[in-house]
Amino acid sequence: MSVTVLTALSHGWEGKMVEVVDRLPGVTVGRRCVDLADLLAAASAGLGDLALISADLRGLDRDALSHLRAHGVAVVGASREGAESEERHLRQLGVDRHVHLATPREDLVEVLTTTAGAAPFDPTRADLMPGEDPPTAPIEPVTDLTPPPPPPLSEPTRGRVIAVWGPTGAPGRSTLAVNLASELAAAGAPTVLIDLDTYGAAVAQLLSVLDEAPGLAAAARASELGTLDLVALARLAVEVSPRFRVLTGVPTPSRWPEVRSAAVEHVIELARSLAAFVVLDTGFGIEDDEELSYDTAAPRRNAATLSGLAQADDLVLVGAADPIGLQRMVRAVQGVGQVSSPAPRPVVNRLRASSVGSDPARRVEESLARFAGVEGITFLPDDPAATDAALLAGATLAECAPDSPLRLAIAQLATTWTGAAAPTGRSSARGLLRRRG
Ligand SMILES: Nc1ncnc2c1ncn2[C@@H]1O[C@H](COP(=O)(O)OP(=O)(O)OP(=O)(O)O)[C@@H](O)[C@H]1O
Ligand SMILES: [Mg+2]
Repeated sequence: MSVTVLTALSHGWEGKMVEVVDRLPGVTVGRRCVDLADLLAAASAGLGDLALISADLRGLDRDALSHLRAHGVAVVGASREGAESEERHLRQLGVDRHVHLATPREDLVEVLTTTAGAAPFDPTRADLMPGEDPPTAPIEPVTDLTPPPPPPLSEPTRGRVIAVWGPTGAPGRSTLAVNLASELAAAGAPTVLIDLDTYGAAVAQLLSVLDEAPGLAAAARASELGTLDLVALARLAVEVSPRFRVLTGVPTPSRWPEVRSAAVEHVIELARSLAAFVVLDTGFGIEDDEELSYDTAAPRRNAATLSGLAQADDLVLVGAADPIGLQRMVRAVQGVGQVSSPAPRPVVNRLRASSVGSDPARRVEESLARFAGVEGITFLPDDPAATDAALLAGATLAECAPDSPLRLAIAQLATTWTGAAAPTGRSSARGLLRRRG
């Protein structure tokens, strides 16, 4: 097979390397790129099958590698002989094949031709050195849970991702995500809650985690630099109570460009090894910034939520129990189906007769069945006393309103995954020792 190579190499030895590569049988240098932007543009334009890059390429990160892969361009690292730190850096970013100026010609041909068209980039293995096995969790062993009725965990060590999403209008995504995660942990399953809402991250405040807690932005940065592994993620995900870890969201909405898709995918994939359940609090926006689609390297406002929804094993769709909330929920069922594959588990929050009329559960059931074909709704009661107490205390419902109707309803919902018996009331919060980071 003939391979067209795009090179983006250190100036000092670029010329020599290009000369060697261009003379190889079946290999052509398609473009000598001057920088990363040039390389990404050449890849987008389909000018090559393989990028030959050096570690000091300015701006090179995991997202850039994803961009190359997304355009069918394989990546091989190159350096002067003996530059081990450069080679290591590229491996940490997920570039597994490497050549040197002094690599024998036949080996060069083998590496370049077999890498071009090889398997796509796997961000979850990018922190591994060749021959290493995936890391095992150093923290707690993942509990072997077999949740009925949803499909059981396919592998006991691979956590299940539950995305909590709902349309605009603050239907209660964060309240549900926080408390669902806390109930899963209280039932004995190590759980990580990740705040992916780049419009209004709220988990840190809801759980009184210090503002300085680095969270998702730091994890994303470490991922892009190739330094995120399981231990680093465990350090960033604060343990707020036994078995319950939290990766807080971006501290201010203006920092959304720091959270790119490839990094979020990597974080979620690693989190699966850290816990039996990975609960995602998401933002409302799921549009894909279509005007940016010509430029796949551009950051996207909804990237974090979209990546979370794409990775989800289960999707909890939260809507508000009022006429506007229900209408949005009807549209949301269709919209979210485009970006997430699991069938949504509908949850209607703040159920009350004053907003939809007498016998509200029946009315909501009828209208969602009729207009969206949605059935099997979980209802959560309107319970401002409980949510206000939790907000004021910066704590979970289990901790500060353990007998409240809302807490008991969410605990009941959590049994869908854990199979454990739901708490019935008083004293069920005993033993929830809080440790805030
Ligand atoms: N069942 C409930 N009963 C009473 N109040 C509730 C209930 N669920 C949520 N709330 C309140 O509604 C408000 C919005 O909830 P929450 O922050 O969870 O929504 P959200 O969907 O995450 O919103 P945002 O768009 O800000 O992310 C909060 O003040 C919360 O306390
Ligand atoms: Mg929220």
